Amino acid sequence: MKVVEKLQLGRLVTPIPDRRRPIYNWFPLKEAFSRDLVHLLAKTWGLGEGDLVLDTFCGVATAPLACKELGLDCVGFDVHPVLLFASQVKLRDYNVEELRVVARELVKSRYERQEIEAPSFVTRVFSKPALEDMTSFKRKILEVEDEGVRDFLLLGLVNAAMDCSWAYKDGAAIKVVKRPTPPLRKALERWLYGMCSDVEKFKAGAGKCRVERCDARKLKLEDESVDAVITSPPYLGKQEYIHAYRIEQWILGLEGPFADEFIGVRARDIGEEDFSEVAGFVEDKPLEARPYFKDMLLVLRELHRVCKRGARICFVTSDGCYPTGVVEVCETLSKLAERAGFRAKRVIIVNRRYCTTPRRKKLGVAREGLLLWEK
Ligand SMILES: C[S@@+](CC[C@H](N)C(=O)[O-])C[C@H]1O[C@@H](n2cnc3c(N)ncnc32)[C@H](O)[C@@H]1O
Repeated sequence: MKVVEKLQLGRLVTPIPDRRRPIYNWFPLKEAFSRDLVHLLAKTWGLGEGDLVLDTFCGVATAPLACKELGLDCVGFDVHPVLLFASQVKLRDYNVEELRVVARELVKSRYERQEIEAPSFVTRVFSKPALEDMTSFKRKILEVEDEGVRDFLLLGLVNAAMDCSWAYKDGAAIKVVKRPTPPLRKALERWLYGMCSDVEKFKAGAGKCRVERCDARKLKLEDESVDAVITSPPYLGKQEYIHAYRIEQWILGLEGPFADEFIGVRARDIGEEDFSEVAGFVEDKPLEARPYFKDMLLVLRELHRVCKRGARICFVTSDGCYPTGVVEVCETLSKLAERAGFRAKRVIIVNRRYCTTPRRKKLGVAREGLLLWEK
């Protein structure tokens, strides 16, 4: 397995190139990669019509959306209800004229304010009028019969509400930073009209793309059905998104997520857990990091089962930062992929970042890389 460095690809593993790209920017996730990464891999691998791409950790559906543009078939899985909701809205086909009519009706509608019961993590980030306006719009949206249109409006409302909130996300923590905010009606108008224009600008190919709630350790796919995998698993020790979307989740009225559903996360004590499956791979890692590698081996075995012979796989990942120092991930995951039956071809290092203590003392360099394998 060759390890090479191509730092010029660093931007492609971030969502920065998609900041203004229609539909991609409907629900930004700082852990997302870019459309251009998917396009580059699809071109390099010569993927074409009829090929099925899998993203086992699809987040906000960057890979499925990029495949939709390219006319490839794609299935994306995730376990986070808010990210899945946003993904489904981003991937649907719409009648833009119909959307424009209902969006206009909604933003012009009269407020019907009522007493609201909301948990304190919600009330502390909204002014009383903003919260009442949001609830009034939400009630009207829930009366819309067509599920696709309703979800489109709800995503617009969530984005607008967050623009009008005092929430400041700092990792997993949601802080309150009071600042002047626009009236919700204005923000909603801006979001919905912008989203309608995006629907018009986005050029979809003929492929079939969908996302579904599914744990990557138990894939709902047939054996040998996948041509390529483009995915980015949770980074070791960095799963802020588990808690970062509590407010959006409350607005949408969604259930979960449950800690045990996430790779490497345990609701119970791991002191008694058996790591013999990954013996030889984790002894140099801190105890808290071991469930991550054990779970990833399950994912890799499932991927091997569903991939066709000759399938190409790209994992975007990074070494982990722990208080004790850097925990190497890139080579270990590639070796685990070999244990699962893949040929590990290359590791391309695309970023190098310092791991630091909370007081900014440097602990070492964590590499971010593309892990390239083949079945
Ligand atoms: C690094 S993010 C992926 C971002 C994605 N590439 C994008 O562009 O939006 C990792 C994702 O893995 C998901 N995840 C964590 N554990 C999972 C599991 N057991 N099965 C499926 N998805 C999982 C998280 O909810 C998160 O959305």
